[in-house]
Amino acid sequence: MNEAEPSGQADMSAACPNTWLAVAFSEEVKPASVVTTKLAGQDIVLYRTNGGELRAVNPHCPHLGAHLGRGGSVEGELIICPFHRMAFASDGTCIRTGWGAPAPKIRLTTHPVQERNGLVLVWHHAEGAPPTWEVPPVETTGFSRPSTWTGVFTAHPLDLSENTVDYQHFVALHGAQSVVETSPIKPVKHHLMAGFTMKGFYFSWAQVNVHLNLYDPGYAAVWLEMPALGLKALEIAAWSPIGPRRMQARKITYANIALPGALVSRLLATASPLLAWVIGTASVRQLKKDEEIWADRQYLPNPKVTQGDGPVPTFRRWAAQFY
Ligand code: FES
Ligand SMILES: [Fe+2]
Repeated sequence: MNEAEPSGQADMSAACPNTWLAVAFSEEVKPASVVTTKLAGQDIVLYRTNGGELRAVNPHCPHLGAHLGRGGSVEGELIICPFHRMAFASDGTCIRTGWGAPAPKIRLTTHPVQERNGLVLVWHHAEGAPPTWEVPPVETTGFSRPSTWTGVFTAHPLDLSENTVDYQHFVALHGAQSVVETSPIKPVKHHLMAGFTMKGFYFSWAQVNVHLNLYDPGYAAVWLEMPALGLKALEIAAWSPIGPRRMQARKITYANIALPGALVSRLLATASPLLAWVIGTASVRQLKKDEEIWADRQYLPNPKVTQGDGPVPTFRRWAAQFY
């Protein structure tokens, strides 16, 4: 946050927040592969060594500028540039040339990277400051194979996270019949928690209890319970700016159902990847409605909220720390 600005008034107009941001699903970066992805308008090259270590680097080789994502390769624990075959170690140091001359003292810029729950997260900071926290892994014991989804759309970098605590829009836009806060919004450093219950978001007839955890403005774990169905689900959602007003969202949905009768429960547990797909698809269908608003929405620095609105001002004060 810019120290000159009062809390909640930071310039959040369009820039990418300083935080961990998802750039790929883990399974997209297989051992010994090199993958180019995008974050905040820039290419980022990901590679996984033969030993399984994941790395994120600037795309351009410090020798003569070739793009490592266009023909770069992995040899053991090294990434090799396609242009003159210089080799770079995992800390970015050049350790050999392609023609036997001593390695020059050059270094490939690396980015802090972590993998959480099947997502690759890269640290972004406008001034290049190092990360001061990590995203915690989310417990998925009790759930079977998840369903994954990704989509690109026009939005402000904070539209998705603010959306999760904008309670009135669940009724007005998504057709929920009611939204009742069950635990007040609670920001704790980079983490923000909230709980509410609503009827008619995933399915028009089902009550859903929502436990929301934003681990930062680009990464959420949302626990869902639909007691009438004995259904529990977990949606892990991440969203990142890939360019001006262009966002990529990635979602991993888990589900589990418990009904009386061991055999029925076992059968349904086997079907839970399908159930995860049903839940994940239901929330994507709702996301399409948000998308139409976000495409032309202006992210007002001083929104005029009123009684009964969701805790948007608390969200804004929390979000200001990431700028
Ligand atoms: S540009 Fe990469 S080795 Fe020369
Ligand atoms: Fe929404």
